[in-house]
Amino acid sequence: MADVRATPEVLTPPEAPPSPTHVATRREDYRPPDWLVPEISLDFDLDPQRTRVRASLEIVRNGDHDRPLRLDGDELTLISARVDGREVEPGLDGKQLVLDLPGSRAMVETEVEIAPAANTKLMGLYASGGILCTQCEAEGFRRITFFPDRPDVLSRYRVRMEADKDRFPILLSNGNNIAAGEEGDGRHWAQWEDPFPKPSYLFALVAGDLKANSDSFTTMSGRKVALNIWVREADLPKTAHAMESLKLAMAWDEKVYGREYDLDLFNIVAVADFNMGAMENKGLNIFNSAYVLADQETATDADFDNISRVVAHEYFHNWSGDRITCRDWFQLSLKEGFTVFRDQSFSADIGSAPVKRIDDVRVLRAAQFPEDAGPLAHAVRPDSYIEISNFYTATVYNKGAELIRMMATVLGAEKFRAGTDLYFDRHDGEAATCDDFVKALEDGSGVDLSAFKIWYSQAGTPKVSARLQHDPQTRAATLHLEQRVDPTPGQPDKAPMPIPLRTALIGEDSCAEIAAEQLVLLEKAQATIEFANVAEPPLLSINRGFSAPIVLTVDRRPGELERLAQCDTDPFSRYEALQELMMCALVASATGAAADLEPVTRAVGATLRSDALDAAFKAEAILLPSEPLIADRLDVVDPDAVHESREALRRAIGNELRDDLASAYGTSGAPGHDLSPAAKGVRRLRNVALALIAAGDERVGATLAHRQFMAADNMTDRQAALGTLVSLDAPERDQALAAFYDRFHDDPLVLDKWFALQAAAQRRETVDEVQRLAHHPDFRIGNPNRLRALAGTFGYNHWAFHSPDGRGYRFLTDMILDADKLNPQVAARLIPPFGRWRRFEPKRGELMRESLERIVGARGLSKDVYEQASKSLA
Ligand code: PHE
Ligand code: ZN
Repeated sequence: MADVRATPEVLTPPEAPPSPTHVATRREDYRPPDWLVPEISLDFDLDPQRTRVRASLEIVRNGDHDRPLRLDGDELTLISARVDGREVEPGLDGKQLVLDLPGSRAMVETEVEIAPAANTKLMGLYASGGILCTQCEAEGFRRITFFPDRPDVLSRYRVRMEADKDRFPILLSNGNNIAAGEEGDGRHWAQWEDPFPKPSYLFALVAGDLKANSDSFTTMSGRKVALNIWVREADLPKTAHAMESLKLAMAWDEKVYGREYDLDLFNIVAVADFNMGAMENKGLNIFNSAYVLADQETATDADFDNISRVVAHEYFHNWSGDRITCRDWFQLSLKEGFTVFRDQSFSADIGSAPVKRIDDVRVLRAAQFPEDAGPLAHAVRPDSYIEISNFYTATVYNKGAELIRMMATVLGAEKFRAGTDLYFDRHDGEAATCDDFVKALEDGSGVDLSAFKIWYSQAGTPKVSARLQHDPQTRAATLHLEQRVDPTPGQPDKAPMPIPLRTALIGEDSCAEIAAEQLVLLEKAQATIEFANVAEPPLLSINRGFSAPIVLTVDRRPGELERLAQCDTDPFSRYEALQELMMCALVASATGAAADLEPVTRAVGATLRSDALDAAFKAEAILLPSEPLIADRLDVVDPDAVHESREALRRAIGNELRDDLASAYGTSGAPGHDLSPAAKGVRRLRNVALALIAAGDERVGATLAHRQFMAADNMTDRQAALGTLVSLDAPERDQALAAFYDRFHDDPLVLDKWFALQAAAQRRETVDEVQRLAHHPDFRIGNPNRLRALAGTFGYNHWAFHSPDGRGYRFLTDMILDADKLNPQVAARLIPPFGRWRRFEPKRGELMRESLERIVGARGLSKDVYEQASKSLA
């Protein structure tokens, strides 16, 4: 009997260099598995304190070798091990259990004990609010039983579980429920079988007192699939939107990708403690309750949209992830990039496509561009990792989606579909690579896409500069393009990348397309494109729809952007023109140059008054670029200057456009229960206008916001009003916060909003307030949603986090170190704001660096946090 927990967890004593257990795994070292496990049976004796897990693995030697069988384990107490029925004393190598197997096949049985209630990492089997549930991606299955825990080992699973019937009346696993029964001693059992071979990371089990919202979906071939969303009974009324989203997603995947669901049962379970958004376990998706539960009173329009997006994302994984999985974790974007692309297209189709694109690009710029420009930059298909959990990043997910979008743009809809059909057909049941994916697109479409592969391997955001020359005499226009990619860690020299730029020319006088849109593919470092017959002075409309994920600089005449903001025929580019116009003014004033705000307020006013634009678009277009985005444009960041510059522009807009904003605020047509894109757009515009009105006149803003807060019949308006109030020094502020708390403190998801709103407040006092909130009786550092609401939100509150005395840094550092003791994965995700230290003015830069050093030097640091902090220092 060996206690594997005796193997020390990764420790980094301050006096010693990084522990040798923080070793990197490298993509080039990939080797196929030595042993396969075609069949596994699991038997769970469930109990929160001590759960017994018996596993029977049918083991088959893979290829001609004489290496032993190595099974991964983590925090397992080994009770016994048998090979072909005979008890053995297995060797332990680090955390691995090692068995010498003479033949080519064997039956390996192990029995282990685990403690779900003590599992604060929320990986493996853990307890959340009385529910027992699992999370196995990426390497959590080894915390349940000994197994070759890697995605290219695919097995058929049979699961039996037994538990106390009163506490755990519902027992779920992947696939189909094939038998159930009573034990007579208050315990009952259920047996599940999943006919589809799957990697261990897709295994799931749930036991709890759950109730289902049940429905069904009839697939395109006429099969009826039972659908259940399992929640605590009190939450049942909040599951309607998730169920509608699921059915829409199932129909969409049939229509757009020809993909039909393959089991007769699809279960979703919502839990309150979850490290990420949700998990695509075969036939049994487990969700962070934030992405399931919603009603008008407690969820905002953005929450509803996020639920649709995440429900669809996990459902789409059934094909792009479960039926075809990843060969190794370096291929993570194979499933994630593609599935994000699929969920983005779905959301665009069920809502407003231009607004969805604006939203996606905003996320990309806020999260992925800084990653690509900082010390944590990595390729979409990384070359190495210390802890794979750190690579569930905006680069793998969102840039991965952009890269597929580029290939889809180049191919066109029909050829792209031919490519994905071939991909699903050719690799069904396999563990595939990103190269396999591109190859299938090529073979299915007949188009050579090999040039695009560099997007998988080369990190960094390409910088493209564009200049359009026009000769009125010859009516010729010439577009000069140039690209470069800055060095990133480990990649000093960069090659040019293929960059598809949807491009058109707009007449400055006619305000119409004078050269129709074409797809320009910039493949080399430089290119020149000629346009004939250009009589009017042309305006360059380029990277329309954000066809490539690049940073674009266009050499423009004064007045061009303002004109484009009125005339561009592509909605994204029109949005972009106004954003860029604002950005130029913001950067100028943040660097102490003279900034002319007049063209900006003029353009914002024209946008507000336009009859051609819908409310949702107007709201997005007039929203000022965020402070981190402004900071990204500066060589040396002074957060106070950035804040001042943005506030000055907000004030100017609020003052100059008082009437336009008042009439935007007065827009009607958004009853609280109406979730149509039009109604959501009106609420969004009203709330963006409210914030700008308050920027112009605090008193008027506070009065309006408080009135709205009191009268609101929906969370969108209530949260937005409170969002405006929290940044003001008005008496209404504290009243509203108290009222919100009193009304909603029993609802954890709404209480998260209460924490997040205060952590996001644009006030000097915010750094004191987050410290107070960390001691609030409702703060739970072990609950990922609550921790992210407070510490995660604060890290992105640019002005407050970068408080000149360093107290913001100290607060987040303390949080990271405290959280790391419980949940390394979630703690590591709080580090990125520190990674920008080199770009800040020297005093702050030094304080940020010191924080990272304090983290790296801490005793008992996890490898998750160690990897992110040490790389951030480099
Ligand atoms: N695979 C999940 C998704 O993107 C994300 C996830 C990763 C969840 C790791 C939990 C743990 O849908
Ligand atoms: Zn995913």
